[in-house]
Amino acid sequence: MTSADRLKGKTVIITGASSGIGRSTAMEFARTSPKDLRLILIARRIDKLNELAVHITKQHGPGVKVLPIQLDSSKPEDVRGFVTSLTQDWQHIDVLVNNAGLAKGIARSPDILEDDIRAMLDTNLTGLINMTQAVLKVFLQRGKSGAGDIVNIGSIAGREPYPGGSVYCASKAAVRSYTDALRKELISTRIRVIEIDPGQVETVEFSTVRFGGDKSKADMVYEGCEPLTPQDIAEVVVFTVNRRENVVVADTLIMPNHQAAATVLHKET
Ligand SMILES: NC(=O)c1ccc[n+]([C@@H]2O[C@H](COP(=O)([O-])OP(=O)(O)OC[C@H]3O[C@@H](n4cnc5c(N)ncnc54)[C@H](OP(=O)(O)O)[C@@H]3O)[C@@H](O)[C@H]2O)c1
Repeated sequence: MTSADRLKGKTVIITGASSGIGRSTAMEFARTSPKDLRLILIARRIDKLNELAVHITKQHGPGVKVLPIQLDSSKPEDVRGFVTSLTQDWQHIDVLVNNAGLAKGIARSPDILEDDIRAMLDTNLTGLINMTQAVLKVFLQRGKSGAGDIVNIGSIAGREPYPGGSVYCASKAAVRSYTDALRKELISTRIRVIEIDPGQVETVEFSTVRFGGDKSKADMVYEGCEPLTPQDIAEVVVFTVNRRENVVVADTLIMPNHQAAATVLHKET
């Protein structure tokens, strides 16, 4: 089987597909396997998901079936029944891309808002774990004592904590730890557990969400440098999933050329 055929017939879930990296990842999966693919797109903003579904269908026709689902992955009660609520033809999930996530503010302790702490931990960590547990039940029912792919989007922030990002960094470090333990727990299966850690990526919304909607502060983050695009990360996500089944690209750190660490960035003045 060539890499062009490996995604054929697969069902892929992408959380946080309404913008940024998740949106680009959905489009990249569709571009790579335009003849026989099912995409389940998850986020809270269903209007954005519907727009993306129309866009993908317009580009690729009926070969890519798209199912937009409004779901708040930070709410365990919403995630719990999610897989069983799918119709039978959508339940054979092969790939889960845990991408939904956010950073809120740059406050330092003791001034970090309780709501921001909760939003970051509940979305970035608890939501990712709950989604994984829901989908793993499907994976474990497959032959060879289980098969499927879990791709967790971490961050360079999970490897190198920085001031003003303590809770975000902690949430991503915890994702890294959970991912690593999960890979070990599933060693007797054919389930691949993959972590992809982006450095600086310019997505329309990530920094705007971080600065509470203040676009000018968000723009300053990228001033004088050339960040990665969401498409850059999407290509790596699809690359990892599209390897031969015995190949696990377990752990990847991706940075733009001007970045050497979370806080070591060269800016042109
Ligand atoms: N941009 C960067 O520089 C960067 C760097 C490293 C890692 N990352 C990671 O990459 C991932 C994607 O970020 P991005 O840059 O693409 O940001 P983004 O454009 O703001 O996208 C975040 C996505 O997550 C969704 N989301 C947030 N909370 C959710 C919830 N409770 N339930 C369901 N969906 C939720 C959002 O959709 P709704 O608002 O519609 O729910 C949106 O689709 C995140 O995990 C982020 O931590 C980003």
